[in-house]
Amino acid sequence: MTNHFKPSTLLINDNIEKNDRFGAVVPPIYQNSLFTFDSWDAIEMAFEDKINNAIYTRGNNPTVSIVEKKIAQLANGEKAKLFASGMAAVSAGMLHFLSYNDHIITLNNIYGPSISFINDFLIPKMNIQVTFVSGKDNDEIEQAIQSNTKLIYLESPSSVVFSLQDIRKISQLARKNHIATIIDNTWSTPIYQKPLNMGIDLELHSCSKYLGGHSDIVSGVLIGSDKLVSAICAREYELLGAKMAPVEAWYLLRSLRTLHLRMDRHQSTAKKIAEFLNRHKKIKHVNYPGLDNFEQKPLVESQMSGVSGLMSFQLKTKHLASIKSFFNHLELFQIGVSWGGHESLIYAPAISCIKEQTPDQFEKMGISLGDMRISVGLENCDDLITDLEQALSCIK
Ligand SMILES: Cc1ncc(COP(=O)(O)O)c(C=O)c1O
Repeated sequence: MTNHFKPSTLLINDNIEKNDRFGAVVPPIYQNSLFTFDSWDAIEMAFEDKINNAIYTRGNNPTVSIVEKKIAQLANGEKAKLFASGMAAVSAGMLHFLSYNDHIITLNNIYGPSISFINDFLIPKMNIQVTFVSGKDNDEIEQAIQSNTKLIYLESPSSVVFSLQDIRKISQLARKNHIATIIDNTWSTPIYQKPLNMGIDLELHSCSKYLGGHSDIVSGVLIGSDKLVSAICAREYELLGAKMAPVEAWYLLRSLRTLHLRMDRHQSTAKKIAEFLNRHKKIKHVNYPGLDNFEQKPLVESQMSGVSGLMSFQLKTKHLASIKSFFNHLELFQIGVSWGGHESLIYAPAISCIKEQTPDQFEKMGISLGDMRISVGLENCDDLITDLEQALSCIK
């Protein structure tokens, strides 16, 4: 399929490989581990392009391939590979570029388990060195470069405080120094941000968030050049074995048909909710790239074409009983850790710290008792605002 269609058309059109499926309008789920061949020559030929041919489902599966092609087109990449989870994509991507004793530059506020993969796996097992930077200052990144720096790993906006990195400038800097770049683009989706067009080598998503969109699948994807993604397929994908299940790929394909519509709705509702929270007297501040007073607004406008529905805010009160009262009185915002689904969610980062640390201790790490993260779902906007209003009124 040609790549000149607008995203909404691309996402609906399932004509890829339609000839092989009796004209079925929806591609089937090829729920098989193995593919058989008519002859010695046929299987020998399949092995000549093992990266792209369906021989065994740990390598390729037609249902999974259809979705991979669609995601690659959407992100303007040459090739995409789906993984069993976002973390499988994170670890495969990092491992691909790093060898024993190498150095990685990343941000101190990327997704927690991505930091844990560096701290608890790459450092002790591969002697990897790491420099954590804020990501807001390109000079800081330039100064962090060492002779053994092999990878700059970004997440823009980051999913915790939603700060941005200058993707064009950082990828130019990386190329000049022969350093590979990966970006976790989960927050923006390929609808609202195209990092490959800005010089990034490898784009990554947890498809468990907006791409899946219904909180019913766990999956991840890497997108990049044919050469790079094929090299990952041959090594980290096939040998670590974190493959995507055909049935989950099929659910992902179904979700992708509405990605464009869902993102429009997440965006418009989230903007109104952020403005409501920003004006509210019981809220100290709101972190959301869609707000007019967002401190990196010019960067938002220069590298993103829209914003999604995940944001954080801080309640003014530090009184635990009042904070819990707000949290527990919400009716439409369900309590949970993930985001990007149809349903609105709330989580308080302090919940993860409060058993082991005092509020003063975790405040020093940048987490406040009153910090709240919400994922704005697809419910009616007025209903969501009413829900927040009534819960906020419970704060004495
Ligand atoms: C920004 C970000 N990247 C990666 C991941 C990991 O994805 P998964 O849960 O699919 O392994 C998550 C999960 O929450 C995330 O928020």
